[in-house]
Amino acid sequence: MKVAVIEGDGVGHEVIPPALKVLKAVELDFEIVPVEVGYGKWERTGRAMDDNDLDVMRDCDCILFGAITTPNDPNYQSVLLRIRRELDLYANVRPFRSLNIPIDTPYVAKEPFDFIIVRENTEGLYGGKEDIGEDRATSMRTITRKGSERIARTACKIAKERKNRLTIVHKANVLKSCSFFRELCIDVAQEDGVQYNEALVDAMAYNLILTPQKYDVLVATNLFGDILSDLSAALVGSLGLCPSANIGEKYALFEPVHGSAPDIAGKGIANPLAAILSAKMMLEWAEEHEKAGLVQQAVNYVLEKGIKTTDLGGHASTKDVSYALVGYIANLRK
Ligand code: NAI
Ligand code: MG
Repeated sequence: MKVAVIEGDGVGHEVIPPALKVLKAVELDFEIVPVEVGYGKWERTGRAMDDNDLDVMRDCDCILFGAITTPNDPNYQSVLLRIRRELDLYANVRPFRSLNIPIDTPYVAKEPFDFIIVRENTEGLYGGKEDIGEDRATSMRTITRKGSERIARTACKIAKERKNRLTIVHKANVLKSCSFFRELCIDVAQEDGVQYNEALVDAMAYNLILTPQKYDVLVATNLFGDILSDLSAALVGSLGLCPSANIGEKYALFEPVHGSAPDIAGKGIANPLAAILSAKMMLEWAEEHEKAGLVQQAVNYVLEKGIKTTDLGGHASTKDVSYALVGYIANLRK
């Protein structure tokens, strides 16, 4: 398997190497193709990504991605959004599950929960149709039948493998584009025999905090799915624990939900588990279920042992977590 590896910027450089170590520890037969894109490259060369970089990615089976810093410059185009659009990675799948460990943050949900956000990843407000002028700026939100039906289809497929319960998230009381999305999602859920309900996105944010255990699979447009994801990460305990998969028909990209975390970058304290669990999602996508199981077991082990980075109230460094995981897997394989 050929994997394009994009560390990106900031903590991307710190969390992707441990993820690669873990993939080696489970003895995945893979070739690493490093690709440099992001803010660092932009500063150095004036371009955050070359067209050739996309060709290199297309030539690989999938992509493992860290995070990229977005500069405060209206002329800068987001690299990740471009990759998602150009490779048509339309489904952003983000599992959120409570952990059975004490985490020293005030927002962790009290009741166990386990839900997945399925976020449309190629259109909506992140579709790139924007302009900025002297007196006004416009961001166009286009929602298409094709985009809505395929994301609803993906969400229904995931729901059927779980509790068969889908929540359609929208703001149809205000936005026409949301009414359109809502109706198409309902049609697909009915066709696929999936039980569904719906929620206005603002109420959804409130209810996710109060009763996350009520939800199974959520389907949402691009921006709403993005925002609800970070909220959900707080319920788990940290952005440093939350992985994601960006899946298309041909390509797939795996990345932590978090960004480049400039506030902690370079300090060696970033939590590598979100990146490692993203690598686990890559293994599942590649049908390497036994290896994926090993990674999950190792993650459970370090958390149960209390080998926790500072975001979880611990004192371990990124390297401490990485060594413990790799050591555990090596022992299991003996
Ligand atoms: P962020 O996700 O980078 O950080 C938010 C908070 O979570 C920070 O307090 C950070 O220290 C903490 N955090 C994030 N990852 C962590 C980890 N692995 N371990 C421990 N703590 C962690 O979001 P922020 O600060 O809004 O954005 C920083 C930069 O990243 C911006 O330039 C933004 O545009 C970019 N970004 C990139 C994304 C991507 O490449 N997928 C996604 C989100 C933001
Ligand atoms: Mg985000």
